[in-house]
Amino acid sequence: MNSIGVLTSGGDAPGMNAAVRAVVRKALFHGIKVYGIERGYAGLINNEIKEMSLGSVGDIIQRGGTVLKTARSLEFKTYEGRLRAFQNLKNHGIEGLVVIGGDGSFQGALKLYEEFGVKVVGIPATIDNDIYGTDYSIGFDTTVNTVVDAINKIRDTAFSHERTFIVEVMGRNAGFIALEAGIAGGAESIIIPEIPYSIEEICQKLIKSHQRGKLHSIIIIAEGAGSGIKLGEVIKEKTGFETRVTILGHIQRGGSPSAFDRILASRMGAMAVDALREGISQGVMVAFEKGEYVLKPLETAFSGKKQIDLEYYRLADILSI
Ligand code: ADP
Ligand code: F6P
Repeated sequence: MNSIGVLTSGGDAPGMNAAVRAVVRKALFHGIKVYGIERGYAGLINNEIKEMSLGSVGDIIQRGGTVLKTARSLEFKTYEGRLRAFQNLKNHGIEGLVVIGGDGSFQGALKLYEEFGVKVVGIPATIDNDIYGTDYSIGFDTTVNTVVDAINKIRDTAFSHERTFIVEVMGRNAGFIALEAGIAGGAESIIIPEIPYSIEEICQKLIKSHQRGKLHSIIIIAEGAGSGIKLGEVIKEKTGFETRVTILGHIQRGGSPSAFDRILASRMGAMAVDALREGISQGVMVAFEKGEYVLKPLETAFSGKKQIDLEYYRLADILSI
C-alpha cells in the first residue's frame, strides 16, 4: 500500500487528534503517503484532501477536538455522494482509508468497501462509549473525568447550601458516561436508559438520607433516560427539598484528552496502519477488549447493543446509601 487517507467523522471526541497523529506518523514511518480529509465524509465528497507531513500533526496530541474537523453528511448516505467520494479517493491514488468515529461513520465506511472495494479501517471514537465490540472508545475516559470534575464542584455548593442537585450528562441513548461518572463522583442515584427506575423510590431514598442527616445529594441522569429539568421539578414537588439542575452539555466533548485516551488513540492509530499494510480482505475495526488490541469485522460495531455492566450498577447503589 503506497497511499492512505484519514478522516474524523460524527461527534468529536477528545483523543481524535492523538489518533490522527498516530496514523500519520506510523504511515510515514513505513514510507506510506498520508492524506488528511477535512470535515469527514462531507470533505471527502467536496475533495477537501491534503497531504500530511510529520510536522502537520505536531503539537496536537494534547488538544481536544479534531484538527481535521468533523461533520455529519447526509449526501454520503446516498450512492451518488459515495460515488463522488470514491472518485476523489481514486484521483489522489488513495488505496486505504482510516475512519475515526462512531458506528454511524463505520456504516458509511463499510459501504465504501462493499460498493467500491476501498480498504477501510474504523477506529472507535465517541464520548458515549456505545460502540459494540470494543470495551473503550476514544474520548470516553476524558469525558468521564470531565463529568467527575464537575460533580466535585457541584458537590461543594450542594453541601454548603444543603441542596439536591440533578446533573444531566450526555450519552445519547446509552448510560455509560452517567454510570462511570456517577460511581466515581459518589452520586446518590444514577438514572440511565438501560435500567427502568422509579421516581418514587429515588425520592424515598432522598427522604431517608435526609432523616439520617445527609442534607445534600447528587443525582446523575443520562440524557437518554429523560430530562433533568423535569426530574428536578418532580423531586422538588415530592420531597419539598431545595433542588437545582445542571445540564453539563457540550463541555463534556471538549478538553485535553486523558493519558488513557492518548494511549488508546496512539495504539489504535498504529494498529489501523498495520492492518492496511498487512492487507485486509474486508472492512475492519480496531477494538480494545479485555486489555488487548484486536481487529474485528467492521460490521461488528452495529451488530448488537453494548450492554451495561449490571454489577457496576448494583455496586453504585450499595455504595451510595
Ligand atoms: P457517529 O459516527 O458518531 O455514530 P453519525 O451517526 O452522525 O455519527 O454518522 C456520521 C456520518 O456517517 C453521517 O453523517 C453519514 O455521513 C455517515 N453515515 C452514517 N450512517 C450511514 C449509513 N447507513 N450509510 C452511509 N453513511 C452513513
Ligand atoms: O455522540 C456524542 C454526543 O455528544 C452525544 O452524547 C449527544 O447526544 C450528541 O453527540 C450531541 O450532538 P450535537 O453535537 O449534534 O449536539
